[in-house]
Amino acid sequence: MSSQWMETVAEAQRRAKKRLPPSVYSALLAGSERGTSYDDNLSAFGELGLAPHVAGLSQQRDLATTVMGQHLSMPVIISPTGVQAVHPEGEVAVARAAAARGVPMGLSSFASKAVEEVTAVNSQVLYQSYWMGTREAMARRFDRARKAGCVGLIATLDWSFSYGRDWGSPAIPEKLDLKAMASFAPEVLRRPRWLYDFARSGKLPDLTTPNLVDPGEESAAPTFFGAYGEWAQTAPPSWDDIAWMVQEWGGPFMLKGICRVDDARAAVDAGVTAVSVSNHGGNNIDGTPAPIRVLPSIVDAVGDQIEVVMDGGVRRGSDVVKAVALGARAVMIGRAYLWGLAANGQPGVENVLDVLRGGIDSAMLGLGHSSVQDLRPTDVLVPDGFTRTLGVPARS
Ligand SMILES: Cc1cc2nc3c(=O)[nH]c(=O)nc-3n(C[C@H](O)[C@H](O)[C@H](O)COP(=O)(O)O)c2cc1C
Repeated sequence: MSSQWMETVAEAQRRAKKRLPPSVYSALLAGSERGTSYDDNLSAFGELGLAPHVAGLSQQRDLATTVMGQHLSMPVIISPTGVQAVHPEGEVAVARAAAARGVPMGLSSFASKAVEEVTAVNSQVLYQSYWMGTREAMARRFDRARKAGCVGLIATLDWSFSYGRDWGSPAIPEKLDLKAMASFAPEVLRRPRWLYDFARSGKLPDLTTPNLVDPGEESAAPTFFGAYGEWAQTAPPSWDDIAWMVQEWGGPFMLKGICRVDDARAAVDAGVTAVSVSNHGGNNIDGTPAPIRVLPSIVDAVGDQIEVVMDGGVRRGSDVVKAVALGARAVMIGRAYLWGLAANGQPGVENVLDVLRGGIDSAMLGLGHSSVQDLRPTDVLVPDGFTRTLGVPARS
């Protein structure tokens, strides 16, 4: 096995940390305020147990499923992430890896690569949008994504513009020009391989957002911070606005960021195809419980009407199995593939997906199932007091 092979996501994270300038690494780590949600997303999976059999196991395991009409070779989707200065090929490398491994890819509207470049190498791209700008501007962006061949829309609504982390936030420049690079020189020079990759590609890390303008207008695309400003100044959406988004897109639609039962029901009424139970990887208001804790209540409330996926804290195949057993149709992964991308580009993302596949397969073997469709809550040991239910009146 090549020395580049990473046997776990934790190893990919260690390599990413070694390779990336500290500010870039810390921008990926993210989290907000005290970091309670970030920590809970990870530790909650560790609280869940599994109950393996030792005989009567299945030699064949089928990991395939579908979400939003797309075939998944395993119940994993690339969650959209908007951090670009990780690798010169950025989202295109991720898209190639996802296509090679048969999983769909969410593409952030804050991505650094044009959507057309990404759909050229992956036919299962789900375009992600925030509620930002005017309806007209959003409709034009949806139109561009649709024409580029995106097969679904992910509307991400769980963001509260909370600033400040107790462990400090990285300084990210408005634009990575030579002047900004010079001010980063000391930390960048400590990471020569990261610099070398960009030097070889002939480009500086790109902090613009080409998908927020019409095709061909990319030179006028806002910087990441310009886009963030437009988003922050947009009045938050109503449920009618969300129903408008669903109509305007006119195809498979996921609302990402649900953690309350009442919101899940309202999402059904707005006409969505799917929801992702999520707290934005611990980046929304701190104190939001881990999605795996609220997943069963959401599945219970709306799982027979729409598809329910979850994201947050997935780092191994057994995490995927636990989520599917508790009712998720699939999970979405964020940092896990970002670590792979940062560590080793496209092969690094493929490596992470292979680690997850191997882990799902061995958990399925131990649990005695031949298909992910057969996973049930009884496969998981859920300790008392583990689950949370948000958004229903407390019983008196
Ligand atoms: C660095 C970073 C950037 C992100 N950018 C976006 C984004 O642009 N759009 C979005 O919908 N979610 C974004 N997310 C959230 C992810 O899609 C996903 O919800 C989260 O990473 C899942 O948690 P995990 O990292 O523990 O897997 C981002 C997350 C991280 C860590």
